[in-house]
Amino acid sequence: MNTAIEIKKGIYWIGVNDRRTHIFENYWPLPKGVAYNSYVIIDEKVVVLDTVERSHMDQYLESLEAVLQGRKVDYLIINHVEPDHTGSIKALLSQYPETTVVGNAKTFPMLRNYYGIEQNLLEVKEGDTLNIGARTLTFAMAPMLHWPETMVTYLPGDNVLFSADIFGAFGTLDGSIFDDQVDLDYLEEEISRYYSNIVGKYGVPAQTALRKLGSLPIDMICALHGPIWRTHIADILAKYDKWSKYETDEGVVIAFSSMYGHTEQMADCIGRFLAEMGIKKIRIHDTSKTHPSYIINDIFRYKGVILGSSAYNGGIFPTMETLLNELENMCIKNHYLAYFANKTWGGGALPCFKAFAEKIKWEVVAEPNEATGAMSLSDVEQCRNIARAMVEKLRS
Ligand code: FEO
Repeated sequence: MNTAIEIKKGIYWIGVNDRRTHIFENYWPLPKGVAYNSYVIIDEKVVVLDTVERSHMDQYLESLEAVLQGRKVDYLIINHVEPDHTGSIKALLSQYPETTVVGNAKTFPMLRNYYGIEQNLLEVKEGDTLNIGARTLTFAMAPMLHWPETMVTYLPGDNVLFSADIFGAFGTLDGSIFDDQVDLDYLEEEISRYYSNIVGKYGVPAQTALRKLGSLPIDMICALHGPIWRTHIADILAKYDKWSKYETDEGVVIAFSSMYGHTEQMADCIGRFLAEMGIKKIRIHDTSKTHPSYIINDIFRYKGVILGSSAYNGGIFPTMETLLNELENMCIKNHYLAYFANKTWGGGALPCFKAFAEKIKWEVVAEPNEATGAMSLSDVEQCRNIARAMVEKLRS
């Protein structure tokens, strides 16, 4: 079935929706699915920008064929090599073998390694242009957003930015593809979760890219996932600016690991004190139930982070260890931290939190608490101290 949609005169979206894949990159949950977007420009030359994940190759090629109306593909621009966008490249090239593949110096080794593609390549560098008839495309490098080869393609005149994964979102496009047609409230968490989990590690490169792209007139942002931005461009640019500067709102994320509920009691106790002290944005997550992607997303929103864990086999509870590893790996900056533990008999969680705090370099705002089984009165008081210290920091 042809699902192509003309988004500007001679420019088409030929994306697909994936409601079947449970986890993106075999790790990140997709409760609302994901869209893989690809685009076609019909001019004197025909240009395709990126492809789609191979599971949707047949539908994709049908849409492409319908848009082409008998023409061939002259250029295939690869803004991003990750296989959710290049999975259909071999099929496309076998159907349109005269296609020239456009990428940069870092693109082509990856294409060779993944797909054995080594011929009909056109290498572009920062600022290079490609005339395709009435239009001329310009290329800009966006390394580490979120892979080293990532680049963006800009179309002056139409003022369209083909932005690779930048400004993308989880969630399928359910009947609509533009930001002013889709339910952005429904997608809000999937937009921020996409940033925080996929792009979030690369705040500094994101700031560099925003400075570079900020001076361009942009009427439309065509990302490789999520809606096409044409009405809320300033909003999404502002969100990216805020997120990539690690700016947060007043609020506290409490994440705990608890085997029999005693460590959870401390989390609830701290949450209660925070609320009594006037904090409204409190998010308490059980690491055994909630995937780290949601906890990380909340940590990108709120400045205060309080972590608690029971001991397990002389160390920290496994699901908390996973979260700590994720947070360390993502190098998230600018947070206040407090932590608490439950040692039961041997302990082990507290030293892990201490090592984590030293590595991630968040400011520790309170002395940790370590309970021994059920909460005692002194544990309650120390939970109060943790809450008070966090609130004082947040409001200082
Ligand atoms: Fe959507 Fe980085 O691939």
